[in-house]
Amino acid sequence: MIKTLLFVAVLFVAPVAHAAGGGDKKLPNKNWSFEGPFGEYDRGALQRGFQVYSQVCSACHAMKHLSYRNLSALGYSPEEVKAIAAQYTVMDGPDGEGEMFERAAKPSDKFKSPFENDNAAKYANNGALPPDLSLITKARVGGADYIYALLTGYEDHAPEGEELGDGQYWNKYMPGHKIAMAAPLSDDVVAYEDGSPTTTSQYSQDVSHFLTWAAEPEMEVRKQTGIKVLLFLFVFAVIMYRVKKKIWKNVKH
Ligand code: HEC
Repeated sequence: MIKTLLFVAVLFVAPVAHAAGGGDKKLPNKNWSFEGPFGEYDRGALQRGFQVYSQVCSACHAMKHLSYRNLSALGYSPEEVKAIAAQYTVMDGPDGEGEMFERAAKPSDKFKSPFENDNAAKYANNGALPPDLSLITKARVGGADYIYALLTGYEDHAPEGEELGDGQYWNKYMPGHKIAMAAPLSDDVVAYEDGSPTTTSQYSQDVSHFLTWAAEPEMEVRKQTGIKVLLFLFVFAVIMYRVKKKIWKNVKH
């Protein structure tokens, strides 16, 4: 009984708590290809988003839950994945003499983190810790919409009456508005090869797409399974209805 009550309480409280989180400004609602029951990731956007992450964000943010081999889901061939991994140097060992050694990363290695540990990351960032981005779209209310808004929501100056501390910047969408990350993107910082616009807005959109995939790589399969299950249930219901009709045909009721 108590369990049921608790369950009902959670059902009612969770959406309220959810709505209360996040900044006080409404997020712009982007039309993502992965939204809706038939939604899918756009491979082009994912590859461009990975490019933005690896050329810009990875200077400060780790993605420790991803391995290079996971990138094959973005449409890269095994050779391309190998070549991407080989651009990074990782520590391995100990070797036969007990020494650690450096080697080129392999597809089975996890994404290389920019800092050895959290303290080093904070030290390099004015005391603020750049969060791991592997699951960030799940960890923030608004998901991809929030990341996009955050990346495009910087203002040059704090509004009248607000003071920014050292290494703080004003962002319309960051809860509390003061963020210890300088605007990481500006036009033309990443060279796209597929002719997509090289604008802050496009970069932000692509990297948000990529981060959503990183947090929910199974989303497409999950949705397809859901549709199949619904189809099955529908067909099954029709069959059961007809079976019932047939069995009860000669029974008066
Ligand atoms: C120079 C280092 C640096 C770079 C480059 C950088 N960030 Fe950050 N980022 C930070 C720091 C530091 C924080 C913590 C800010 C805070 O807590 O105020 C942060 C915070 C964040 C947050 C969390 C905001 C929140 O709601 O708490 C997100 C999301 C984020 N960064 C995304 C990105 C993306 C995407 C890129 C690449 C386009 C990027 N960052 C590039 C340093 C960086």
